[in-house]
Amino acid sequence: MSALHVSDLVVRYGANRALDGLSLEVESGELRAVIGPNGAGKSTLFATIAGETPASQGRVELDGTDITRWAPHLRVRRGVARAFQVSRIFPSLTVRENVLAAQLCAQGGSRVCWRTVLGAEHARSEAALAELGLAHLAARRGETLSQGDRKRLEIAMALQLEARLLLLDEPTAGMSPRETAQTVALIRSLWERTRITILLTEHDMSVVFSLAQRITVMQRGRVLCTGAPEEVRGRHDVREIYLGRG
Ligand SMILES: Nc1ncnc2c1ncn2[C@@H]1O[C@H](COP(=O)(O)OP(=O)(O)O)[C@@H](O)[C@H]1O
Ligand SMILES: [Mg+2]
Repeated sequence: MSALHVSDLVVRYGANRALDGLSLEVESGELRAVIGPNGAGKSTLFATIAGETPASQGRVELDGTDITRWAPHLRVRRGVARAFQVSRIFPSLTVRENVLAAQLCAQGGSRVCWRTVLGAEHARSEAALAELGLAHLAARRGETLSQGDRKRLEIAMALQLEARLLLLDEPTAGMSPRETAQTVALIRSLWERTRITILLTEHDMSVVFSLAQRITVMQRGRVLCTGAPEEVRGRHDVREIYLGRG
């Protein structure tokens, strides 16, 4: 059974189809990259999997369960975690508070805050801060972080949700080459440790080819092809629509 099964997905914006009958299967534990030119529909696909953008047609299944009509917060509880192309953190909270806030969200507010903050969960958030190289920034306010540190904080927050499927929309967007390299290493080590299913979009082809096990190429709201990096790299049609331009 695949971790994620998207079939015949259509998302319409007026007459325009951001997704136009897209189908995609991702195996459990896979690290899959989705690439394609600007406007291909990558962010829309992620938003539809997360439940933020409703599907006009088609189906999204998570571990065999049809979640097409589920509200976003229910998907989060099922293990769908998303980091955004533009980070969304709480700017006025500290780094540590941001991670703790994500834990509270994960619990759906069903437990009282003090128990979370003072209890065993605290150790978990400290571990996440250390793993993502944020421990030394724990007391800094979110808004003072660099682009790269913000993104890492967002990934740390996503991990608090006990994610089974991590959606990363351009995780290295706006980063310096050094931050990009750090983030790539981080995503790889996270994936190797947890074997969480990861779906990521990325502009930077060196990131895609160094991280992904398999690559799906999108064009105009559809899947053009899916394959191993070498296979995709060698395809004439992929070069034509995408790689050739860069
Ligand atoms: N909220 C929206 N309203 C109208 N059109 C949108 C909206 N979001 C995306 N689109 C359109 O859908 C298409 C796919 O966009 P997007 O998913 O952002 O592509 P990508 O992430 O691959 O660059 C584009 O033509 C874009 O203009
Ligand atoms: Mg996008």
